[in-house]
Amino acid sequence: MDRIRIVGGNKLNGTIPISGAKNAALPLMIAALLTDETLILDNVPRLADVAQLQRILGNHGVDIMSAGKRPGDHEYQGQTLHISAANIVDTTAPYELVSKMRASFWVIAPLLARMKEAKVSLPGGCAIGTRPVDLLIMALEKLGAEISIDGGYAVARAPTGLKGAEIDFPKVTVSGTHVALMAAALAKGTTIITGAACEPEIADVADCLNKMGAKISGAGTSRIVIEGVTKLHGARHTVLPDRIETGTYAMAVAMTGGDVQLEGARPELLQSALDVLVQAGATVTPNNQGIRVARNGAGISPVKVTTSPFPGFPTDLQAQLMALMTSAKGTSQITETIFENRFMHVQELARLGARISLDGETATIEGTSTLRGAPVMATDLRASVSLVIAALAAEGETTVNRVYHLDRGFERLEEKLSACGATIERISG
Ligand code: EPZ
Repeated sequence: MDRIRIVGGNKLNGTIPISGAKNAALPLMIAALLTDETLILDNVPRLADVAQLQRILGNHGVDIMSAGKRPGDHEYQGQTLHISAANIVDTTAPYELVSKMRASFWVIAPLLARMKEAKVSLPGGCAIGTRPVDLLIMALEKLGAEISIDGGYAVARAPTGLKGAEIDFPKVTVSGTHVALMAAALAKGTTIITGAACEPEIADVADCLNKMGAKISGAGTSRIVIEGVTKLHGARHTVLPDRIETGTYAMAVAMTGGDVQLEGARPELLQSALDVLVQAGATVTPNNQGIRVARNGAGISPVKVTTSPFPGFPTDLQAQLMALMTSAKGTSQITETIFENRFMHVQELARLGARISLDGETATIEGTSTLRGAPVMATDLRASVSLVIAALAAEGETTVNRVYHLDRGFERLEEKLSACGATIERISG
């Protein structure tokens, strides 16, 4: 199993290209199931989760072609996928595939909308909490699906097709909103979603669906209106930049000090996180090519942050911020409100010398100037990268084990960081 070895203490200086967003690429690929024509997606990140979803879609009969290098392509450029679901040969998504990646459960929506049936394994628990799918099922039932749970599978049918409805989410859910959008796009009549998630990835998917012929307005706000259409067609769409990758590298620069241009990043996708970085003492300068983040001289100031749905501070940057605050001059508080068990990084950060105490959903972090390298274990994607951030500033050597978590969501992490002066390498085997 691969490990990552980091020797801390170097400042980061240079340019880091930001990849396409994993959490937009996955639902965009799933949306290809809605049409029998080809959907072309540009700027798809090269990630383990994308490869896993390719296998899952392949099982439904979807052909995916990854375009080769073109003249002038940058070495970091994301891939272009040509996805064709001309013939869906299987409407079952089996446990062995779905259990490896929760988002694959979302195939239930386009399969049901286009094929009028789907049998999709329930995804089960995961390292960051129980993560139920009750609201996804509620949304599909509102649209007229009959759903039963049988042998660990959600078995869904809509023999006469889905019908537009009013769907009111009692809790903001990204997955619920994606599923409702995709299903309603091909439902008969009008669907109104209230309490919708406002995350930029939802707006990106709606934008792509509209290019495919859907009639969606209001995506990116809490009220989305969808006029169902009978058929969607092929289209070409570029995946938006990854705001979590952007925020992660911004935190890394704030942690080590230095000056880095985050190429292709869009500040409006993570304003709340950038505001927190400024409070913490970083200089953040949006420019035409992306965002420049620097910290020179000044120490790190403590902050008090609560995660919340977009446009609030994202849960997917909570672990990274905690790593940064381990070196603040004073006491910080971070409250996690989205997932009930997303503190797996706390014990691992403690192995590097961090002083963090937990009380329910709030972590109190006493800043220290002496993190020291140690072997640590990655537990989930964002927790893993928080260990990398801490290790970049720790004295001596850290090895991060179980790096397959990192490969799920960070493209060429070690290359991007070492190009900016970090001592970081992958050890295979
Ligand atoms: C998406 O997960 C992201 N995943 C997560 O990214 C992200 O942390 C999360 O949104 C919140 O922003 C993808 O986009 C692939 P939710 P999702 O539905 O859609 C509860 C990463 O590291 N809930 O918004 O699964 C749920 O338990 C990750 O890239 C229900 O109660 O999140 C949670 O407490 C991990 N019932 C809250 O809502 C439901 O039916 C928000 O979940 C659905 C969700």
